[in-house]
Amino acid sequence: MIETRPSFGVNVVALPGCMVKRGVAAGEVGDLVEMFVELDPWRRLNMDAAVLRSYFSRNDPALHRYVVNRDHRLAGLLCVRYPWLRGPYIEFFGLGSEHHGIGLGTQIMAWAEREARLESKNLWVIVSSFNHGGRRFYERCGFSPIGEISGLVAAGSDELLMRKHWF
Ligand SMILES: CC(C)(COP(=O)(O)OP(=O)(O)OC[C@H]1O[C@@H](n2cnc3c(N)ncnc32)[C@H](O)[C@@H]1OP(=O)(O)O)[C@@H](O)C(=O)NCCC(=O)NCCS
Repeated sequence: MIETRPSFGVNVVALPGCMVKRGVAAGEVGDLVEMFVELDPWRRLNMDAAVLRSYFSRNDPALHRYVVNRDHRLAGLLCVRYPWLRGPYIEFFGLGSEHHGIGLGTQIMAWAEREARLESKNLWVIVSSFNHGGRRFYERCGFSPIGEISGLVAAGSDELLMRKHWF
């Protein structure tokens, strides 16, 4: 049966290795800042605690924020801007370092794609040119490079726009 609800209209999703839950609670903001402020790419892009705190908590109706919980602990964050360019844009995706490399990112991206497919034919992401692991991850998820945008986030660093498209 074809689902007709809007993309990213769900509040909680149980995936095999984690739970994805809409919204960042006030008490989670500080933990997320701590998780990401020393982690690349954000560390290398000089996104300090104040910038991250504001991004995680400010009013932004087109930004769908989903926290990731693993074993009832905060493990990461996915932020999707939608509507965007004929499909959603993965604007922020990170897991705490102790949760890397065990398949959670792949599961979450597959879920994001299922959501995108409800209404769109594109899913977008931007990855920093120095973030080779991130680029490899998105390529394995089926994204293709579209082009580099120099200095988009930080001077001296390029961002690669990537697209996953289906018919
Ligand atoms: C990128 C990220 C979300 C992937 O999630 P994940 O759960 O670690 O990924 P999975 O376990 O499903 O898949 C592993 C693949 O992710 C990629 N990857 C990227 N960074 C990685 C990391 N730090 N550790 C392990 N794998 C990483 C690799 O391609 C790896 O494949 P490989 O085994 O062939 O090297 C996660 O590693 C992360 O939060 N990294 C730091 C932040 C980041 O780079 N975010 C994306 C760009 S903004």
